Amino acid sequence: MEKKMLFPQIKGLIHGGDYNPDQWLDRPDILKEDIRLMKKAGVNSVTLGVFSWAACEPVEGEFHFEWMEDIIENLYQNGIYTVLSTPSGARPAWLDAAYPEAMRVDDRGVRNRHGVRHNHCMTSLKFREKTAVIDQMLARRLGKHPGVILYHISNELGGACYCPLCAQKFRDYLALKFEGDIEKLNKAWWTSFWSHHYNSFDQIEPLFANGETSVMGLTLEWRRFTTANMADFMEHEIRVLRAETPDIPVTTNFMRLYEHLDYRKMAPKLDVVSWDNYPVFHNDWESLGDTLAETSFQHAVMRSLKRDTPFMMMESAPGLVNWHPVNKLKRPGVHRLSCLQAVACGSDSVQYFQWRKGRGSYEQFHGAVVDHNGSEDTRVFREVAEVGELLRRLSPVAGTLCRPKAALLFDWDNRWAIWDTRALADSTKKYEETCLDFYRAFLRLGVDMDVVGSEEDLSGYRLVVAPMLYMLQPKTASRLTEFVNGGGQLLATYFTGYVDTDQLCFLGGFPGDGLSELFGLTSEEIDTYYPSDRNGVRLADGSVWEVRDYAEILKVKDARVLGVYTGEFYQGTPALTCKAHGQGRAYYAAARSSASQMTPLFEKMLAQAGIPAKKLPQGVEYHERCAGEERYGFYLNSTPNPVTLEGVTGLELLTGEILQGGLALKPMGAAVVQSFLR
Ligand code: GLA
Ligand code: ZN
Repeated sequence: MEKKMLFPQIKGLIHGGDYNPDQWLDRPDILKEDIRLMKKAGVNSVTLGVFSWAACEPVEGEFHFEWMEDIIENLYQNGIYTVLSTPSGARPAWLDAAYPEAMRVDDRGVRNRHGVRHNHCMTSLKFREKTAVIDQMLARRLGKHPGVILYHISNELGGACYCPLCAQKFRDYLALKFEGDIEKLNKAWWTSFWSHHYNSFDQIEPLFANGETSVMGLTLEWRRFTTANMADFMEHEIRVLRAETPDIPVTTNFMRLYEHLDYRKMAPKLDVVSWDNYPVFHNDWESLGDTLAETSFQHAVMRSLKRDTPFMMMESAPGLVNWHPVNKLKRPGVHRLSCLQAVACGSDSVQYFQWRKGRGSYEQFHGAVVDHNGSEDTRVFREVAEVGELLRRLSPVAGTLCRPKAALLFDWDNRWAIWDTRALADSTKKYEETCLDFYRAFLRLGVDMDVVGSEEDLSGYRLVVAPMLYMLQPKTASRLTEFVNGGGQLLATYFTGYVDTDQLCFLGGFPGDGLSELFGLTSEEIDTYYPSDRNGVRLADGSVWEVRDYAEILKVKDARVLGVYTGEFYQGTPALTCKAHGQGRAYYAAARSSASQMTPLFEKMLAQAGIPAKKLPQGVEYHERCAGEERYGFYLNSTPNPVTLEGVTGLELLTGEILQGGLALKPMGAAVVQSFLR
C-alpha cells in the first residue's frame, strides 16, 4: 500500500483554515499582516470564499472576483495554498428578495424569512440556477490558479425543506423507488394499519411535525430522501465546477455523526472527506480522555467513509467556540494533543475556524488564531504556531493510512429506525452511545476500529462488532455470514435483525434473514428495564457482568452458552453465546452490559482474530498509520501525569529522539514513533 498524497503540491500535512478577508477589504494593513502572521504560524493553506456570495456578486449579475484573485495570488507567492469554497452556504439579500422560493419552509409548513445561513430550499430551480452561475464564474475566474488545490462545496450542508417543490420531489422519489406502483408502497409501509392506505403518490406528504408520523416506512423514506436531495444539490454544484476545472478535487465539510444526513451516501461523490471537529473540552460530565476518545470515534467514522485516502479536519477551534452551552477555554496543551489526534486518526490536515476574529455579529467572540488584539504574542497564537511546527516535523506521515483490522458496524438507516421505532425506552435506546462504548473499550486495548456500514465488504477485517443491528439491509446478513465463514470473529448484541430495509419485521424469529442460523439461536422476547433495574450475566469463570436497560430471552439451538442470567424470571437462561463456523465465530450478547466489563471477552476475540492488544495506561490513546514498510505509532497522553511505556522503538518525530525500548510521555504529552517493517 503506497502513500496517497491528497495534494502533491504540499509535501506534507495541511495547516490552516477558514480565512475571511472579505470582512477586512477596507483594511489592507490587516490583510498584509495576515500573511506575515500566517507564515509565522506555519500556515500553508487557507479556505477562502465560505459565505462570500455578497462580496462576489453584490447585485444580481454583477461579479467581483478581483479581490479574491489578488488574495489567492498573494497567498500563493507566500507559499500558502487555497481551498476554494463555493459561496452557497448563505444567500445574499438580493437573492431572497428576487426569488423567495430559495428560502426554506420548515416542518410546520412555514416559509423562513431572509436571514442567517444554511437554510435554502435544495430543490428550488432558481436557487440552483443562481448557484450554478456563481460557481461557474468562480471556477472560471479562480479555479485555474496554481494556488487553488481543492474545492469546498457550500458549508456544512444540512437540514431539510418542506416546501411544495420538495414535497413533489419526495413523491417523485417514492414513485421511482416503488416503480410507480402505490400498492408496493402500501405493502412496504404496512398502511393497512389505522386506515393509512394511499390511493396515489399525490396523497403523500413530507414528514410534517403536525402530520403523518406514525408510518415508520414514511419516516425512514423522508430521511433517505433528505439525504438524496442534499446529495443531488451537492452534485449539482460539483458538476458545474468539474465542467470548468475537472482536475481540482472536491470536498464538503461534514459534521460529526450529524443526525439528518447519511454521509455514507454522500461521500462517494467527493474526492476527499472532510469534517468539522468541535469537542466539548473540559465539560463537567466526563474526563478529557473520554472527550478525546469520543473525538477519535468521530474521526474513525469520517476516515471510514473513504478508507483508501486520508481525510481532512476542515475546521476546529484554535481556542474556544461561541456556541457550546458553556464556552470554556481550551486548557494549555489540549490544542496540541487534539491536533495530533486528528493526524493520528488519519487526517492529513489541521484546519481552523477561523484565522482572525471578526469585529461584529454572530461569531465575533468565536475563537480564532488571531484575536481582536491582533497580536502574535498570545497563548492561542503560540499554541497554533507550535502545532504548525509539529506538523512540519510530521511531513512523512502525509499520505499514509490507518488500516485497522477491527471494525464496528454503524448504519445510518439503523440509527434512524431505532430512533423512530415505538419500542424499548426512548431514554435508553442510545444506539450511538452504545457504539461509542464498544469503540472506546477497544481503544483502551490499543486497537483502532474502522466504523463501517452494514452492507460493506468486511473481508479486510478480522474482528467485527455490530451493536444493536436492529435493521438489516438487503446485504447485511450475507456480509456477516461471509465474514464469519471466512474466519472472522463477530459480536452482535440484543436488538439485532428485527426489521428489514422497509422497517417491516422479519417473520419466523429474530434475528431474521438467516442470522438465526449464523448465531445458532432466536430471541423470543426483549425485556426493557427501568433505569434502576439491574440483572447480571454469570460467566463460566464465575465473573458477573452487570446488566441494565435491555435483556433478551433466547432460545439457543446450536450455540455454546458462555453466560447465563443471574436474575429475573429468566434466571439461568443463556445471555452470552458463541457459535463456531470453522475458525470464525459468531458471538451474541443478549443483554446490555458496559463494554468495559466485557473487555475480557474482547481480549479473547482479539487473540482469536490475531490482532495484538496493548496494555495502555488509562487516558493514553494509541493509533497507527502506515504505507509500504513505514509505520507511525501515535501515543497521546491526556492525563496530567507523566507516563512511561515499555517496548517502544523507533524514531520519535516530534523530538527527533531515537527510542530503544522506553517511551516517556509528559503530562498531556504526545509522541509519534516512526519504524519500518522488515
Ligand atoms: C461551523 C461552521 C463555521 C463556523 C463554525 C463555528 O462549523 O462551518 O462557519 O460557524 O461552525 O464553530
Ligand atoms: Zn423546498
